[in-house]
Amino acid sequence: MKIKTFAVEHWMNLYEMEAVNNIAETCVESLTVNELIEIDGTNPEEFLRNLGKQKLTYGHIEGSPEFRGLVSNLYDSVSPENVLMMNGAIGANFLVLYSLIEPGDHVVAVHPTYQQLYDVPASFGASVDLLPLRPENQFLPDLNELKSLVNDKTKLIIINNPNNPSGSIIEKQMLEEIVEIARSCDAYILCDEVYRNLMQEDGLVVPSIVDLYEKGISTSSMSKVLSLAGLRLGWIAGPDQVIAECIKHRDYTTISCGMLDDLLAVHALKNYDNILKRNRKIIKDNLAILDAWIQQEPSFSYVKPRAGTTALLKYDLPISSEDFCIGLFKANGAFLTPGSCFDMEGHVRIGYACDTEVLKKGLEKVSEYVRTLQQEGNKKGHSYSKN
Ligand SMILES: Cc1ncc(COP(=O)(O)O)c(C=O)c1O
Repeated sequence: MKIKTFAVEHWMNLYEMEAVNNIAETCVESLTVNELIEIDGTNPEEFLRNLGKQKLTYGHIEGSPEFRGLVSNLYDSVSPENVLMMNGAIGANFLVLYSLIEPGDHVVAVHPTYQQLYDVPASFGASVDLLPLRPENQFLPDLNELKSLVNDKTKLIIINNPNNPSGSIIEKQMLEEIVEIARSCDAYILCDEVYRNLMQEDGLVVPSIVDLYEKGISTSSMSKVLSLAGLRLGWIAGPDQVIAECIKHRDYTTISCGMLDDLLAVHALKNYDNILKRNRKIIKDNLAILDAWIQQEPSFSYVKPRAGTTALLKYDLPISSEDFCIGLFKANGAFLTPGSCFDMEGHVRIGYACDTEVLKKGLEKVSEYVRTLQQEGNKKGHSYSKN
């Protein structure tokens, strides 16, 4: 089956492990196993001793009852049977698309977003229309545009809330309007919610799509909000018929996920509020640093993110985003993601939820590299410098 290269994952695979100051990572600074276990005062030695006694069977095929129960508590109207464990949100998204999409279906997906969300349905033979998220609209969808895109063949509308890469957030009222549009053509809505609850504003609560719509499907995972990407666990929360279809398709690809991962995930989910508190502090502190940097770096501007862990930085330099990021990486090891991975040339994506010192150092290195580019450009008589 033909499919395009997954640009952002390809980019990460090429360079991430050698990055010195990695400000491309989208997880909130990852936890160690011991940090996770100790988060509620549990003794790691005792925890690990008990883990050692665990017989390594396939475990609960659809995820342990504890896992499914704790995940269902993250929603208002989801029962444990309506939660299905998968290998990361990437596995969850793939399974939903593999289970629902047939050749000839029509799909609408927001753009820019995680490429999987629009190129996988296209690879299954769907005709995919992209709904642009524009900086002048704070990277929010234009609902008149969405209305004009849907038709009676539209099976699925795909959104990503909060959005990667822009950090925008669709609030409740707009979500309800999207639900009305989906209802008018009887389409499902898949909402990739891997960054859910990572809000900048205190008190801002945005509901999950499953709690707003009878044909709403939420995918999420342990990776971003819980800082545990290494567990490779995620889930689908959705209506009965979708979960049944997903289970049928899942039997061919997954059997079960790792049972040790399941045990650690249960410990993390029991401490969800604690980890979220830690992570909201990191994203708020770090966004303040990024914001101060943007204010004093004349070549860069942005739509300030309201949620999630990433932002798109627009730059005013005569260089492609890929050349910029490769040049930066080679010059000093700082690592960003080119906007071209999201069809957003003239931008780079930053992941600002990393260790605060790494963020500060990484931004310093970006400034250093920009000065070098400007000096070289000025020598050659190009108008690199705005100063
Ligand atoms: C929007 C979005 N969905 C899904 C994923 C995959 O996450 P996971 O590690 O849970 O598979 C990512 C990772 O960057 C993402 O940004």
